[in-house]
Amino acid sequence: MDKVRFGIVGIGKMGSIHAIKFVAGLVKGAVLTAVCDISEERRDWAKKNLKNVEIYENYNEMLDSGLIDAVVIAVPHYLHPIMATDALNKGLHTLIEKPAGVYTSAIRELNALAKSKDNLTFGIMYNQRTNPLYRYAKELVDAGRIGELKRINWIITDWYRPQAYYNQGGWRGTWEGEGGGCLINQCPHQLDLFQWLGGMPTKIRGYCQIGKNRDITVENDVTAYMEYANGATGIFITSTHDFPGTNRLEIDGDKGKLVIEGGKLVFTELDVSEKEFNATNTKFMPSIPSKKIVKKISKIKELALQVVGQHTAIFRNFTNNILFGEKLIAPGEEGINGLTISNAIHLSHWKNDVVELPIDESAFEEELAKRIQEEKALNNK
Ligand SMILES: NC(=O)c1ccc[n+]([C@@H]2O[C@H](COP(=O)([O-])OP(=O)(O)OC[C@H]3O[C@@H](n4cnc5c(N)ncnc54)[C@H](O)[C@@H]3O)[C@@H](O)[C@H]2O)c1
Repeated sequence: MDKVRFGIVGIGKMGSIHAIKFVAGLVKGAVLTAVCDISEERRDWAKKNLKNVEIYENYNEMLDSGLIDAVVIAVPHYLHPIMATDALNKGLHTLIEKPAGVYTSAIRELNALAKSKDNLTFGIMYNQRTNPLYRYAKELVDAGRIGELKRINWIITDWYRPQAYYNQGGWRGTWEGEGGGCLINQCPHQLDLFQWLGGMPTKIRGYCQIGKNRDITVENDVTAYMEYANGATGIFITSTHDFPGTNRLEIDGDKGKLVIEGGKLVFTELDVSEKEFNATNTKFMPSIPSKKIVKKISKIKELALQVVGQHTAIFRNFTNNILFGEKLIAPGEEGINGLTISNAIHLSHWKNDVVELPIDESAFEEELAKRIQEEKALNNK
């Protein structure tokens, strides 16, 4: 194979941007040969804007067409694992949009299937893993330069979404349509990076506020406290009704501290670990000798990377994995980690208690089903 032939299921807001990237030739080694959407309006858009691309209404017909080697799944969340399962079973390389799905039992089954298809590439669109600042943070963590984790805190409240956003209707901002609010829609990237850089917690206590300052049935304000096996702690705060919001990640380790905010990473690297320093120090209020490393990306570059660069980088990497075996930046199997944290926060809120990982998946699904029923009852009033 010298070019990977791609199909996209779902050419709504995100899928259509993806399609244009392929058609513009941004994904070397790949060609878009088919797209699919149940919406006539979106298929009409495809007719006008995508030349030499077959258009389908039924995704299984596209998967069976023989026209594609790989599929990108860019539809509402509940459908991700269902369509990915069909695609892998039909021998297609599969790239799902975030989040991996809505509940983890479906993703465990999907991961087991993907593992059994070792000739097929399975990826997830965690495009923020290509952000140079998070990549550098990952390098520091993996090289042990931050040392043993003490604390990881992320405040990500700059997803301002007014009532008009939720009034668009459709699947967004509902339990039935997307399986939650800001945790499942806005935050999958940060929850993934949170575990990519800090590892998985063992216990979570989540507090969610439902419809804070907004007329919606899902959470739009969340504070979660986490504990890790080594005694480290984590805080994750997110909301969609604050303006201006904050986006600040802090990771404290035994050997240093890393802060990412406003397109800037500051790493303060201690000359000796705090443990070593403390073992011999005799002063009451000393400071530990350290050096600072600063990396920046401009607002314009960050925006350009987000709009064009990050998704393209994931598509190129996914294509190169198929063609040349390049290491995947975002393996599909890792989608379950961020989703586990998201599910655990919801479950903890619903049970008004601390949740240990792995979570009780059936308890999560039962509680989710209750929320869907309550939402339906409200809509029928
Ligand atoms: N990675 C990112 O940066 C990013 C950004 C935005 C959205 N997303 C994700 O992309 C996905 C799609 O979001 P969106 O904003 O494009 O939503 P959207 O509603 O604009 O588009 C979804 C499309 O899927 C189509 N669809 C629904 N069911 C279908 C089916 N059974 N078969 C074929 N098509 C079907 C709809 O008609 C619609 O056109 C979501 O998972 C979302 O979380 C990712």
